[in-house]
Amino acid sequence: MADLALRAENVRKVYDRRGAPPTTALQGVSLVVRPGERVALLGRNGAGKTTFLKIAATLLAPTSGSVEVFGVDVDRRPEEVRPLIAVVPQEGKPFFHLTPREQVYTYLLARGFARAEAKRRTDDALAQMALEEVADRLSVTLSGGQRQRTMVATVIATEAPLLFLDEPTIGMDPFARRAVWASLRTLSKKGSTILLTTHYLDEAEALSDRLYIIEHGKVLVDGTAQSLKRDTGGSLRVSIAGGAGLSGSFASFGRTFPEAGALDVITTPERLPELLAVAVRLGLSTTVGPVTLEEAFLRVVGRSIDEDT
Ligand SMILES: Nc1ncnc2c1ncn2[C@@H]1O[C@H](COP(=O)(O)OP(=O)(O)OP(=O)(O)O)[C@@H](O)[C@H]1O
Ligand SMILES: [Mg+2]
Repeated sequence: MADLALRAENVRKVYDRRGAPPTTALQGVSLVVRPGERVALLGRNGAGKTTFLKIAATLLAPTSGSVEVFGVDVDRRPEEVRPLIAVVPQEGKPFFHLTPREQVYTYLLARGFARAEAKRRTDDALAQMALEEVADRLSVTLSGGQRQRTMVATVIATEAPLLFLDEPTIGMDPFARRAVWASLRTLSKKGSTILLTTHYLDEAEALSDRLYIIEHGKVLVDGTAQSLKRDTGGSLRVSIAGGAGLSGSFASFGRTFPEAGALDVITTPERLPELLAVAVRLGLSTTVGPVTLEEAFLRVVGRSIDEDT
């Protein structure tokens, strides 16, 4: 087996449609995913995440560059790659005229599983996604979140070596999201590799071993949630109510950002007592919490936007 589950080198994609100006969606993305890893692609709307996943999943040809899945080139030998992967597409819908049970089961049969094994896996995946109660209703009658759970159940049932999930938990309630996280963790323990996109940064943090932030079709940074947060310059965020205009008084404690009329300061536990003393002296109330991945994301991407303008 190849020593990487996925290797992308300098992938470019220009959408060039007759009658429309060309759009450059990817301008040289290189990344790797090791076997058994869970990796998240993060980035603003239009950054290029879906385009990248489609290319890696053999659904779209790159303009240049290459992607290999377990050492097999996706553009040149897509038919060899497809049995190794399964995909939850962004905004995918289950077949409306099938029930969730029929959808998962027939997909497994189409992928070559024997009936008994397909049935066992179907029951298991429906249970993991808590779909038993609606498993025998036509998908057209399901709620949005139940449909999305059906899409995820269909893909996790395959236990394919490499899973691509494009915003898999969109529209799901907090319980359902956690069920997806648990299933994906179990799958990666069994050896599957997972590449997902999400705009929920708590999800990226809970789920991924490593992440890449894509911005304007390029990898802006990669690392762990931990390393990204560390790069913000501190582990604590102090929010000072009504402090938006007072960054001068707090700048010595770390980076400061106005946020909805308050002033947020990213600082370290060592500097905290002194900072709180200054706030008390100025008669300002404060809230202290950990730096989140969302904050790190806003800072990293925000800095890049500022540099562009
Ligand atoms: N079929 C297409 N034809 C032309 N341009 C496209 C096409 N699909 C995507 N694009 C453009 O390519 C860029 C990247 O889109 P993509 O869907 O990959 O972004 P994304 O990171 O998945 O965004 P989101 O978070 O909104 O899903 C965007 O500028 C988009 O408008
Ligand atoms: Mg997308």
